[in-house]
Amino acid sequence: MSETLLAVESLDVHYGAIHALRQVSFEAKAGEIVSLIGSNGAGKSTLLRAISGLLRPSGGRIRLRGADVTRAAPEAIVALGCSHVPEGRRIFANLTVLENLQMGAWPGRAPEAAGIERVLTLFPRLKERLTQAGGTLSGGEQQMLAIGRALMAAPAVLLLDEPSLGLAPLLVRQIFEIVREIHAQGTTVVLVEQNAHQALRIAGRAYVLETGSLVLSGPADELARDPRVRRAYLGEAGSG
Ligand SMILES: Nc1ncnc2c1ncn2[C@@H]1O[C@H](COP(=O)(O)OP(=O)(O)OP(=O)(O)O)[C@@H](O)[C@H]1O
Ligand SMILES: [Mg+2]
Repeated sequence: MSETLLAVESLDVHYGAIHALRQVSFEAKAGEIVSLIGSNGAGKSTLLRAISGLLRPSGGRIRLRGADVTRAAPEAIVALGCSHVPEGRRIFANLTVLENLQMGAWPGRAPEAAGIERVLTLFPRLKERLTQAGGTLSGGEQQMLAIGRALMAAPAVLLLDEPSLGLAPLLVRQIFEIVREIHAQGTTVVLVEQNAHQALRIAGRAYVLETGSLVLSGPADELARDPRVRRAYLGEAGSG
């Protein structure tokens, strides 16, 4: 049995009166790619934001490598080995590519040359653009930079929020190939995607979130055959 790196137990999150996550339980074991699919507003980003300490849950527990991080600060969670690539990239537009990467190193630690080298090997396009301002990169390059920045902390678990959103098909394929490569190098990946086809193809296990609750989970290939998933997320006409 692989070690459980990330365990979310009966998590509740509220935004004021809005109950955004209800009793969500979720886990990722060492060596897995776990996908989380769901429609707009289902609570996918909320779950990632709670895991990475950006939101304070109203109930439940989050453990990272055995430590209770339910109320830990974002920097502490990065230091424990969990990095988050947020929805919409959120790179620093006025900093150069290199400076953006350096911001991703462990809090309070100088970035290691080996870390930068690893990222630039994964993303040769960034290597050619180290002195360019982040804001002038194309959408696909910005996504590569956002992933690269998160990798600078050498995370055990990488949380990816809609990495393919808004990208042309060729770039979507490239991003998924890079996710595979990051996984092959030993990083556990939690992938949030609206692109359910790709998300279920790349993952070993998957969860389906609907309006704040987990409604299905299991091996990704089984979910891809599930009639409910096919109708709701894989764009198939249903018979009822
Ligand atoms: N800061 C906020 N204040 C109030 N409500 C919020 C806030 N952020 C999210 N919500 C609400 O919480 C619910 C879940 O939002 P969330 O962003 O987690 O969905 P999502 O599954 O990531 O959707 P998408 O696929 O569109 O990114 C939505 O109903 C949303 O309107
Ligand atoms: Mg989202």
